Formats: sequence, C-alpha cells, structure tokens
Amino acid sequence: MNRRQFIKRSTMAAAAVALLPGRLPAQTEKAGAPASSGAPGTGASGTGKLPDYAKDMLLHSDMQGLGPDGKPTGQKATFTGASKANAKAEEAMRHKMKLNKEEQAILDGKDGEEKAKLMKILVTFGNTFGAEKLVDLGGAPHSNMFIGAPYMKSMIKMLDECAKAGLKSYAPYTVNPRPYDVYNVQNNAKDMTMIYEGYSLQWDLDYVHVRLGAPDLNKRTCACYLDEVGNAPKPGTYVAWAESSAVNYGNSVLGIRTNRTGAGMDLIQAMLGKSPLFGLMTDEGRKATWLVEVKTSKEPDWGAIGTAIGRKCVEDVPYVTGLDKYFKGGKVTADNLHLLKSMGSATASSGAVGLYHVEGVTPDAKEKGKKLLAKGYETYVIDDKEQARIISTFPNLWPDKNADPTAAFIGCPHNTYHEVIKWGKLVTEALDKAGKPEAAIPVYMFMPNPVRDRAIEEHGELISKMKRAGMHATNMCSVSYAGMKGFSERVRGVTNSAKTRNYSTIRYFPDDVLVKIIVTGKIPKGA
Ligand code: F3S
Repeated sequence: MNRRQFIKRSTMAAAAVALLPGRLPAQTEKAGAPASSGAPGTGASGTGKLPDYAKDMLLHSDMQGLGPDGKPTGQKATFTGASKANAKAEEAMRHKMKLNKEEQAILDGKDGEEKAKLMKILVTFGNTFGAEKLVDLGGAPHSNMFIGAPYMKSMIKMLDECAKAGLKSYAPYTVNPRPYDVYNVQNNAKDMTMIYEGYSLQWDLDYVHVRLGAPDLNKRTCACYLDEVGNAPKPGTYVAWAESSAVNYGNSVLGIRTNRTGAGMDLIQAMLGKSPLFGLMTDEGRKATWLVEVKTSKEPDWGAIGTAIGRKCVEDVPYVTGLDKYFKGGKVTADNLHLLKSMGSATASSGAVGLYHVEGVTPDAKEKGKKLLAKGYETYVIDDKEQARIISTFPNLWPDKNADPTAAFIGCPHNTYHEVIKWGKLVTEALDKAGKPEAAIPVYMFMPNPVRDRAIEEHGELISKMKRAGMHATNMCSVSYAGMKGFSERVRGVTNSAKTRNYSTIRYFPDDVLVKIIVTGKIPKGA
C-alpha cells in the first residue's frame, strides 16, 4: 500500500466511524464520567480497541529519504512533522488528550449527534498524534476535498449528513481547484464523457461545500493565499489547512500554524473550529533539524533545490540559508513569492515538508534566526554540482522518449498575477521574434479565476494576444489533468513545475528552455 492509498484508507476509516449508527460506546461512555464531574480540563478521551490499520499509522509510508547515491537512507515520513520522532502508533493511540468543559460537552452530544461524532473523530485523531489539547482555530480553513470520484463516496455522504444537520465551517473557506475544466481544456465529447463518468460525485461534493461555507467556484485554487483570493491568515494563527503546497507556503511564508491535514479532517476541524495541538503547530515542532546551505553560483533552479530538500529532509523542517539575496530587503512580495511557492511545493511533493525556514526572509527565521536549529541538526549543502545531480535524476517517462512535446503546463501551484504577465510577455515576445503568430504547442496556464480577471482588466491586450497564441487560462488542477486515463499515452507534456513533474509523466525544464520549446515545439539539444 503506498502512502497516498494509506492516507486515503485511514481517512476513509475515520469517516466510516462517523457513519456508524447510534452512540459511539468507547468514547462516549468513557467520556461521560469526567463531564458529569464538572471538572474543567479533566475530560478523558478513551479510544477503545485499536483499529487494524493502527499499526501502520506513523510507520508505513512510501515517503522515504534518499541519500546522495539515490538510495533510501531509511528515513521515513511519519506525518508528525518530524520523521525522527520515533512515534509508535500503538503507544500514540493509547494517549488521552485533555478536553475542556465545552469540548467534553460537545463530545457528549450537547450540540447534537453529528457534532458529537465529529468530536469523537477529532479526539481520536489528536490522541493518535499525541496532542495534549485542542486549540481554537482562527483565520479561515483551506480544504483539499476537491475530487468527486466514487471512491470519495463515504466521505461525501458523511459531510452531506453534517450539512443536513446544519453544521458549517467556523469561517468561509477556500477549496482546491476542481480536477477538470470542461470550459477551457477538456471541452470535447471524449474527455467530457470520461469526466462525467469518472467524477460522478462532483456535483454532490460542490453542493456539500456550498452548504458548509465555501464561496463560489471562482475562488477554487491551491494558492488560496494570493491577494486576489484573500485567504492569508495572520502569522501565528492556528488553522487546519489541507493541500500540501498551501500548508507548506502558509506555515513557512505566512507564519500560520497548521499540520498537513488530510482531506476530510480539514472539514471536520472546520466544522468544530478546533484542532489538536501537535507537530507543526507547536514551537518545538517548528524547530529545524536540517541546516540547508544553498551555495549555487547563480540563482538556483527553485524547483530542483526544492526537490533536493524534500528528498533529503523527507518531512523534517529545514532551515535554508543563501537565498535572502533573491528577496530584496528580505521581503516576500507579490512579484517574488512564486520563487518560494515553487521551491516549497517541490519540498512538499518530493518529500513531505510542511514547513521550512529561509534565513532573513520567512517570519520565524526573521524572528529567531539560527536559534530555530534543533540540537544535533544535520547539514546539507546544495551547490552547482548537487543541483545538477538532482536534475539528472529526473527521468524521461514519455513512452516515445525522442518524440516532440505536445503541450506545456504552467502553474502548479496556481500561477500568481506576476507569473501570468511574465509568461505572457515571455512567450508572445519570443513568438514575435521568431515571426510566428502561435505557439507550436498549446500552453495551459493554471490560475485562480480572480487572477485571470485581474490580468484581463489590467493587461487586456496582452491577454488577448496570449489567447490567440494558444495560451489557455484555466482554474483546474494541473496534476489532476495529467492523471486522466490515457493522458500519458496521448500527451507528451513539458512543465516548469517540479511538483507536476513529481506526480506525472510531464517533463521538467527551466523557464528559458520551456519558452524555446513552446515556440519551436522541439526539445533543444542537450536540454
Ligand atoms: Fe495545485 Fe493541483 Fe498542483 S492542486 S499544487 S495545481 S497538484
């Protein structure tokens, strides 16, 4: 069972608990005594018999660290925010979190049966990870419940029951992009048929989101923190975000406090407005166990160094030096945030990094500097040679390795406004120079609709030119598109996203090479 299947199975198992009829004996009955005693802060949370999958939790994963030789180092992700935590599932599952009076009352059914079930799941989840208590959430949630496929049926049913019971997120929340776009990308009969058959529960899922408090579909994006979308809680805010790239950016660049919440658990926590305090939400869990020194002779390839860090650190927290010179005055701005978005999402997809610190740039690092380094930290140097070595490990997975590319994919995570304009100019100017009206291959530009709308308003002429050149704006998920049945046989994709590369057969190239490919339709020799 690989990591993603495992997460899916464990999350579904948690959801199944909520669907059981009647009271939930182990938790409810044990919980009853302290509640009736009326003693605040003493609420026990029994766990009952360990489910079969418990032995796999924290231990079973395909997310393994790789050494310089490309071989596994034995370091594995445990989803605690520290892969060397030596956490043991059986021990963690016996842990009992303290609940306050209000939380215990919810568990006992004060706010209805559905909310009690959600609390039961949350307490079990917190106990599993050794949390001491629950904390109140602020800001707004971000959910990655975005796929309405049949395997999500039990989860969607559970959420539908919650919506029917009148439960809602504590604040309006953002959601990941939809897995398809029948307006701009899959607007043909064959793809649409495949989509409506494959994502048969998409409508049900969207309906759930509306009732639980998500805004309309224009706000769907993984880059929820962009100004145009507006979900960027203040530093230090506890949230329960899902979507690895958003969690990674939020923790690191915004300075919010969230674990890498799984699909389903994000909305359970949103409806309760509470989260168990553990891992990346704590000062201890935010300490860096790796010092990563970036010593490339020129600006690094952000996707490549992100991949290097993810492979090396797996899910540990890195403290990265040598990058402050690329952020004038140590400021992350609308014009440079894509550099961290690119690096961070690569750390989160080639590893499971949920937080990184960049010396002189990110908020925790600005405040505490090298004090963030934990005792006994290890050092990893990324120089030109190491960066080149990492890039050399990216395989060509096209069935016909020497054929020409057929499509370009830009914007995973979703493009910022700055990136859209930058790419528009890069491609259209290169086409003008080559005397061509149109790109040699279609270019899919993934972005939130509010970013697209701003670009149209402020750069209407350029956007029209991009459209005529074959650049398509879409707010869907790039990797979901690449995961469509038959995609890898039909499409030879190229991208500048290390995350897309990591999850698909699409090949990775730096920006300057990608522009050449888009203009000529050929892979330059030696690229
Ligand atoms: Fe966003 Fe999909 Fe990439 S959710 S980060 S475009 S995998």
